Amino acid sequence: MTDNGLTLGQIDTSKPHTARMYDYYLGGKDNYEADHESADHVISLFPAIKVCARTNRSFMHRATRWLAQEAGIRQFLDIGTGIPTEPNLHQVAQSIAPDARIVYTDHDPIVLTHAQALLHSTAEGRTAYIQADVREPERILSAPELHETLDLSRPVALSLNALLHFVSDEFKPYEIVRRLLDALPSGSYLVLSHCTPDFAPETWAKLVEIYRNGGIPAQVRSRAEVQAFFAGLELVEPGVEVAHRWKPDEEAAASTVTDAEVSLWAGVARKP
Ligand SMILES: C[S@@+](CC[C@H](N)C(=O)[O-])C[C@H]1O[C@@H](n2cnc3c(N)ncnc32)[C@H](O)[C@@H]1O
Repeated sequence: MTDNGLTLGQIDTSKPHTARMYDYYLGGKDNYEADHESADHVISLFPAIKVCARTNRSFMHRATRWLAQEAGIRQFLDIGTGIPTEPNLHQVAQSIAPDARIVYTDHDPIVLTHAQALLHSTAEGRTAYIQADVREPERILSAPELHETLDLSRPVALSLNALLHFVSDEFKPYEIVRRLLDALPSGSYLVLSHCTPDFAPETWAKLVEIYRNGGIPAQVRSRAEVQAFFAGLELVEPGVEVAHRWKPDEEAAASTVTDAEVSLWAGVARKP
């Protein structure tokens, strides 16, 4: 039994899980044999997946800093949070705005078992965790933890980082994003990063196959398809960019990674 009342039996170790594969790419320890098998297959075809994962984390850090510092955002709803990896979103936001409030959501029970690490808020701010699937946005929007933590009459940054490539078109991801944004007021933001086949189509077709064979509804999308998630919103400069080129800090600017290694479109946009 874990701190959260979950039995380990609820963690399905027989199949690969995206949170645990991602943790493996990032050098974490919360992964099992089935995850290693699929992740090693991915790495054998695309060794840069580790660069892609690290670049994605770095984009999340920069976007969160920009939202807290430049856009004055104090409330964050992060869906598809992943296994905690420091610094987590609340640590980045609260280092700028100690009163920032963050609600984390993931569908994978392994993230719930680690939720304590996500709940160490500053005294001035607050964090909460909701175990839910983004494909059921009403469950997230009606969760008491959301309303106890965030004031939905004030702007919220909705972050969907490295999540929507696990929501294939049959689950209507564009409608899901619309529904989530409809619940947020003007002045809110959408932040997202998304894997793309644009720079290495043949490799990405094979990677998607590995995830799908593991039962994960993966679908990578072109720049135009990623841009369509931002329809009706005001994109912040530089628009939808390869993740390491979205407002690069010194480290990202000095990086020598290629677009094909990163293979992630990323953007931030304001709801008018
Ligand atoms: C690649 S990780 C990204 C983690 C973090 N957002 C980041 O950018 O570093 C994808 C996360 O999305 C979660 N996820 C995948 N499908 C999901 C779904 N349908 N609903 C909620 N979370 C999901 C996985 O469990 C995993 O933690």
